[in-house]
Amino acid sequence: AQAGQRPGNRMLYIGDIAFTPSPQRLVGIRRGVVAVENGIVSGCYESMDDVPSDWLDAPKTDFGDALVIPGFNDLHIHAPQYPTAGLGLDKELLPWLETYTFPAEARFASPDYARIWYQRFIQRMWEGGTLRFSAFATLHREATLTLARLAQESGLRPVIGKVNMDRNGSEELSESTEESLDNTFAVIETMRSETPDIGYIVTPRFVPSTTPELMRGLAAIAQRYDLPVQSHLSENRGEVAWVRELHPECASYTDVYEHYGLLRDGKTIMAHCIYLDDEEIDTLRRHGVTVAHCPQSNANLTSGIMPARRYLEKGLHVTIASDVDAGHVPDMNRHIAAAVAVSKLWQTQYADETALRLPEAFHMATKEPGRFLAAATGQEPAGSFEPGYAFDALVVEPMTSPWGLSIAERVEQFIYTGAPANISHRYVAGREIPRPFAE
Ligand code: GUN
Ligand code: FE
Repeated sequence: AQAGQRPGNRMLYIGDIAFTPSPQRLVGIRRGVVAVENGIVSGCYESMDDVPSDWLDAPKTDFGDALVIPGFNDLHIHAPQYPTAGLGLDKELLPWLETYTFPAEARFASPDYARIWYQRFIQRMWEGGTLRFSAFATLHREATLTLARLAQESGLRPVIGKVNMDRNGSEELSESTEESLDNTFAVIETMRSETPDIGYIVTPRFVPSTTPELMRGLAAIAQRYDLPVQSHLSENRGEVAWVRELHPECASYTDVYEHYGLLRDGKTIMAHCIYLDDEEIDTLRRHGVTVAHCPQSNANLTSGIMPARRYLEKGLHVTIASDVDAGHVPDMNRHIAAAVAVSKLWQTQYADETALRLPEAFHMATKEPGRFLAAATGQEPAGSFEPGYAFDALVVEPMTSPWGLSIAERVEQFIYTGAPANISHRYVAGREIPRPFAE
């Protein structure tokens, strides 16, 4: 049975509430109350005594001493790579793409394979509590539409994009410039009529995969439909050197995206961003680009360490992302822990840069990526329990502990040791989402 409310209804949710309104501040309210109207938070209270009197007859859902936290938002994940998670991490980026990733993605030419694996992928996102995300599909039109339709059916709220790649693919995974643009139009138009809750994000794979003509064409599509853009930037030293060879007309890797019109102000996600120089950082800041920091992936593919603290101090928007399957697990709690761990190791080498703290990293996987999705797609913001936020929530059952823990400690324990089985309920915009595609 669904415990959520229907539009027009008011609901009060009671439990141990935790969220991060700012990077430095984790709010924890023992037996707090979140008031939700039409799926949107209208207030968050210390107790029932503080709830406005005209709300007192609203239905109540009491989660006891379970934690209630915002759902996770993951701005960088490859849906078709889920079947091969945990495989092939003995290589660096470019040989890894050729040896493992391209063959794995080529299988999505089969509609049956796509349906089975995209169902499993969406189920797995649900399990881990990633309720909104930005996903790369493959270059295939039909498989991308399958992912969009399954996502719509599931109640989760991703944005997704057909991957564009008209150069340096493989024999089984390639498309012409014309096919790439035509199929992009077709997917956008079909999704606009069939999957109203699933946004489209323009998805050039990365510079080595996209000719100048394709980049220009995609920039025009993004402009015409006012769509966000996602891609990879400066992930690996060999990749950066290759981009320099391919584009002598541009000053840097970042400059290529800017030159071809793919840095849309406030609407662009760039994953990795490890080896940026000061001018590139400045370019990303000027365009309000959101960086997807993928620490687990960056370790797996020997890519490097992204200087998160330095970017935050320079005013970049930084979020934490999974990058499955270069990142081997989808669960965002693990990526929050990885971001903090990598940042601590970096601090041991560069003592002037203080490591990320847990509330900061939590914010980078909830409110900050939610801010991007709202700004880029027009959907309501999610990732906090402040008024005006969608009630996207995870209910985390109490974990065993030898003594009583503060709410901050319980959040910490869930981040480090939590698993899907600890999450008992998931809400998107006030609606409880049952397990997708359950028999
Ligand atoms: N760069 C281009 N394609 C990919 C991909 O699929 N994964 C990662 N991690 N980097 C990429
Ligand atoms: Fe990636």
